[in-house]
Amino acid sequence: MAKSAYYITTAIDYTNAAPHIGHAYEKVLADVIARYHRHCGREVFFLTGVDQHGQKVQQTAARQGTEPLPHVKRITALFLDLWKQLDIAYDGWIETTDEHHKTVVRDLLQRLHDDGQIYKKCHRGHYSVRQEQFVTDRDRETDGSFGEQWGEVVEFEEDNYYFRLSDHVEWLRDYLERTGDVIFPGFRKADVLNALAASEGTDLCISRPKDRLDWGIELPFDPDYVTFVWFDALTNYISGAGYRRELHTDADLKLPDFDRLWPADAHVIGKDILVPAHAIYWMIMLHAAGFTDQQMPKFLVHGWWNIRGEKMSKTTGNIVDPVQLAQRYTTDGLRYYLMRDIVSGRDADFDESRLSMLYQTELANEVGNLLNRTLNMAGRYRGGVVTAATGFDDDLNASLRAAVESCQRAYHAHMEGHELHAALEQVRAVTGAANRFAEQAAPWKLAKDDTQAARLDSVLHHLAETLVHVAAWLQPFMPGSCGRMLDQLNAAALVPGLRDLVWGLLPDGHQLGKPDPLFPRLQLEDESAGA
Ligand code: MSP
Repeated sequence: MAKSAYYITTAIDYTNAAPHIGHAYEKVLADVIARYHRHCGREVFFLTGVDQHGQKVQQTAARQGTEPLPHVKRITALFLDLWKQLDIAYDGWIETTDEHHKTVVRDLLQRLHDDGQIYKKCHRGHYSVRQEQFVTDRDRETDGSFGEQWGEVVEFEEDNYYFRLSDHVEWLRDYLERTGDVIFPGFRKADVLNALAASEGTDLCISRPKDRLDWGIELPFDPDYVTFVWFDALTNYISGAGYRRELHTDADLKLPDFDRLWPADAHVIGKDILVPAHAIYWMIMLHAAGFTDQQMPKFLVHGWWNIRGEKMSKTTGNIVDPVQLAQRYTTDGLRYYLMRDIVSGRDADFDESRLSMLYQTELANEVGNLLNRTLNMAGRYRGGVVTAATGFDDDLNASLRAAVESCQRAYHAHMEGHELHAALEQVRAVTGAANRFAEQAAPWKLAKDDTQAARLDSVLHHLAETLVHVAAWLQPFMPGSCGRMLDQLNAAALVPGLRDLVWGLLPDGHQLGKPDPLFPRLQLEDESAGA
């Protein structure tokens, strides 16, 4: 079976703390892209999930006086609730404690071990008891001491397993240099090449002895160790996509056909985990496991949402809760803001007053009111029936059609190029043109003059037809509202694949539905919230 689906997957989220707006952004971004491709008529598989193992989780659970498993299950439920609330339509869900995931990780480790790619070595060095990790000379202060953050630092030696990363660095450099579109945005490739140069000669420690960390996947070739972070977490992208599904004995387990999905068309991750984790460790893991150059994934690396230029963090207490925001500004209001106010690949500043303002202006006023007044006028003047074939045309009509046609071209170019904010700008240009068209054509005046009947029909038709296009373009971004919009236009069944949208979707005699506000006035406890 050959690759036939668009495969999109995101970072799996740590389950040591509740989700914040950054997590929400990444998932909405992936969901919009997945929905876009589905609406274009492609087969899509969208995988996401949670990262449940590791030292931080073990420590947090211990501090809370609980075992790691109930702790991660509680946090996992918060993520699952959020994805439901945000209308994230994923096809596959993976938790790193899933048996099938562990099986694939162990199989991969065993094969690499058998192949001589993983070896055991004793590391002697300085160890921070407080941070539970080795420190190097690079961590020393200018006076040669280790800073306070490291607490007590002792001489320590430990046997661990190492992955022969350095054997593949040459291949990776060559692959990146001769391949154009592995990483979006392109400027990030330089970061990877620089990091590769700095990592020369270093192998990757992939184990922790169980007396230090036992909340992880046991090494298949040494029961005294668990595998540490990346071999576990990164492998989700293939274990959740059905890689080596023949290894599983559970008859109820439904996994996708890996060959239809792989390689990933969009690995959606934040900029913090590109280097070294994804661009170096993951690519080399795949290469070492026998994946060819044609089977390497493509990365979509997004920027971060900050608060007044600063990183969100628990210590500064500036964490933004997406659940509250979705309740306050609606799911689609939040989805729209998260796609509208950031350029893919760049950072943005989260600003609740902009979210509120954009909801009111660009959604309620520009889209919602256009729909409302079009349906109202069509209802009042024509019983809601669209007359497409009036024979009447003028420059005003032609310019609205031209705006729709130009958006159809630009929208796809931007969507395919991950420039989602730019695709939204194109759609906004059309709603702006349609609102101006309504003002200029003034159907309320035409309705008073019987000699203008054909012209009035053509104006109402142009408005309704434009709205069907707008609803179709915005549907990946705001599935709930646009579904309602198409229902009110009674046009859901008339919309073809997104790529096939052409002027003339509404047939002559089409019956429109009744208006119902799409973006109701916000019920804010405090009208100045976030301002
Ligand atoms: N569990 C690891 C990823 C393993 S992937 C095999 C992890 N988890 S995380 O919960 O810390 O982050 C999950 C994703 O959210 C990452 O892609 C990260 O970049 C993204 N974000 C975390 N904070 C963010 C913002 N403030 N803004 C945007 N995205 C951010 O890393």
